[in-house]
Amino acid sequence: MKYNFDQVTDRSHTDATKWYVVQETLDIPDVTPLWIADMDFAVSDPIQAALKKRMECPAYGYTERGPIYTQVMADWFNRRYQYGADPEMMMMSTGVMYSVSAAIRLFSQEGDKILIPTPAYEPFVDKTLSNRRVPTLCPMHEEDGYYTLDFEDMEKKIDEQTKIFILCNPQNPTGRVYTKTELEQIAAFCEKHQLKIIADEIHADFVFDGQFTPIININDYTRQNTIACVSCTKSFNLAGLKISGVIIKNPELFQAFKAEAVNVGIASINIFALEAMKAAYQFSEDWMDQLLEYIKANRDYADEFFRTRLPMIKTRKPEGTYFFWLDMRDCGIEWEKLNQTCIEEGHVYLSEGKFFGEDYLGFERLNLASPRAQLQTGLEKLEKMVLAHQK
Ligand SMILES: Cc1ncc(COP(=O)(O)O)c(C=O)c1O
Repeated sequence: MKYNFDQVTDRSHTDATKWYVVQETLDIPDVTPLWIADMDFAVSDPIQAALKKRMECPAYGYTERGPIYTQVMADWFNRRYQYGADPEMMMMSTGVMYSVSAAIRLFSQEGDKILIPTPAYEPFVDKTLSNRRVPTLCPMHEEDGYYTLDFEDMEKKIDEQTKIFILCNPQNPTGRVYTKTELEQIAAFCEKHQLKIIADEIHADFVFDGQFTPIININDYTRQNTIACVSCTKSFNLAGLKISGVIIKNPELFQAFKAEAVNVGIASINIFALEAMKAAYQFSEDWMDQLLEYIKANRDYADEFFRTRLPMIKTRKPEGTYFFWLDMRDCGIEWEKLNQTCIEEGHVYLSEGKFFGEDYLGFERLNLASPRAQLQTGLEKLEKMVLAHQK
């Protein structure tokens, strides 16, 4: 490997949320953070160099955002995933969740319903509520840790007030990467009920098994009715710089989205984010490919660990994302106190299951995107804690 992802990057003096929470808000020493969705790896050399170079000219005034930025984004997504995106119908936004929020306002009226399969990234619900829409939560069907959409349940819950389907693919937190057949079923369902599709594809670069397919390309209905939200921030560890992309193929929709985005200020991108994105998509592809290999190896390591040393935690190897979704309901620990027990007894900080929906008490999400030694430490701490609770 050309890049050393085992290298530890000390983020503790930066107020990085992942570390700040464990080091500054808890009165417990040495808690290993394996929670919030960013990575503990240093960004690629080209990104560091681009930021330093821009910083060296100490004037940071208003800056033109020429076509190069959407061009490099389009090149990346077209080359790797065949989006067939036209750079002139792409735009930048300060974050995927701001785009999701803008799309919610564009596609629906106050009081309308939005269908969200669960377990789900909680801000989908949050943005639905903050825009005064109503979330219709549809628990996915689960078998042996493998999650699929429950179309029967969705059919039962849908009504005329339902206007939007939020798709998260690859899926946070289950790690599912929907197959083309599943996406065709989703497309047919959305067309039948005339739902607009907000596709959060922020984790598209993290696919280990199978193939990522953008829903926007499934058929003419999805081409006309999808807003796809993509980003370099998960893939290249740039979440603090606040940048993302939007791909739309329906020209009217594009104009309407752009107007809303400009109006609420999310189209106004920080100059350092622009530099970082350009360096990421133009000069960091080999870094990304090796990162993917490294995280895949972390995934396989964790999978083996759970199967051989912690079989009471039910897991399924994620097909994509850098998360492991843990069903810890049979660990002999009170579900309500599980997350706190992991922190206080295990000294490991995970993302609590109920963040992903009320049905997921007793679940935790573990982040694989750190140097192997940190992951190993976290898993060993978890093992010690869980074993102490076995009768
Ligand atoms: C599925 C998903 N969407 C969106 C986000 C946040 O994206 P942004 O910071 O661009 O709003 C995350 C971050 O964890 C995520 O997992």
